[in-house]
Amino acid sequence: MSQFFAILLPLYVHWTFGGAGNEWGYEGEIGPSNWHNNYPHCAGSRQSPVSIRMNEVIVDSNWLGPFTMRGYDTRDNVCMHLENTGYTVQVNIQGEPISITGGGLKDTYLVEQFHFHWGRLDQRGSEHDIDGIHSPMEMHIVHYNAKYKNFSEALDKSDGIVVLAFLFEVGNHNDHLDHIISHFEEIPYRDNHTLIEPFALREFLPKKLDIYCRYSGSLTTPPCYESVTWFIFYETIEISEEQLHSFRQDVHQNFDNGTITDISDDFRPPQPLYKRKIYCSKKEDD
Ligand SMILES: *[C@@H]1O[C@H](CO)[C@@H](O)[C@H](O)[C@H]1NC(C)=O
Ligand SMILES: *[C@@H]1O[C@H](CO)[C@@H](O)[C@H](O)[C@H]1NC(C)=O
Ligand SMILES: *[C@@H]1O[C@H](CO)[C@@H](O)[C@H](O)[C@H]1NC(C)=O
Ligand SMILES: [Zn+2]
Repeated sequence: MSQFFAILLPLYVHWTFGGAGNEWGYEGEIGPSNWHNNYPHCAGSRQSPVSIRMNEVIVDSNWLGPFTMRGYDTRDNVCMHLENTGYTVQVNIQGEPISITGGGLKDTYLVEQFHFHWGRLDQRGSEHDIDGIHSPMEMHIVHYNAKYKNFSEALDKSDGIVVLAFLFEVGNHNDHLDHIISHFEEIPYRDNHTLIEPFALREFLPKKLDIYCRYSGSLTTPPCYESVTWFIFYETIEISEEQLHSFRQDVHQNFDNGTITDISDDFRPPQPLYKRKIYCSKKEDD
């Protein structure tokens, strides 16, 4: 069902707005500062991403305990479907439920998909930043509240979505990322998709998951619903320059019948925090 949704949504969006152009993007007239014209939620007061200023966060280690992750360690009975959405590369996950709870959450949340945001240069790419420092890439693992029937039903509910966000750092070659990068040649254009060999999600993640920050925010793409509880982890994931190069060169925003542009710089800039507070499990140096 969710696979059906994932494949049909881009087509629906395309037909609705017609023509070869996208109805929203990351640059120019259809860029983030104009999203609210077609998607009013994007002008809301609890939007994402945000800048995390470590000297303004509230540390609450009792509330923000460890996560319980189920199914993160296994690749059995999992189906992974890699897709070029024109806005990102995304892995849609089906099969045996993979879930998290803990981190101060009241409910259990099921994994739906994960995807990336990255820059054309190393100095930018992440959506969240810590003390003004942006990473070259950020990964979002998107979950929906198990009390709703499916992802689309949860998408606009205030307790509907949980995203685990991981920041990358340029360094050594990351073998785990090759599970995805090695398939980029099968998804060069928008709407291209392919099944990939499943892997355990945990392999992807940093070792330490106990230092993180949490806040209430939104989807970082239209329609910007304010339905997301965000968790941003302090420990980074390594990626080599060569692997970043693949993200920057091998996948494109377009169908294969027009101007070809890479997906890079698919990040929304930080949004005002307004009255919100950011809570952290601890500070890096505690
Ligand atoms: C999600 O559940 C709703 C309510 O039951 C249903 O109408 C909708 O078709 C489902 N969507 C998908 C993509 O399965
Ligand atoms: C390119 O292909 C897409 C999808 O197949 C189609 O909707 C669009 O009209 C085409 N654009 C041009 C310029 O032919
Ligand atoms: C990718 O999509 C294009 C349409 O934009 C299609 O012509 C092509 O066959 C697809 N490539 C693969 C590898 O599926
Ligand atoms: Zn994202």
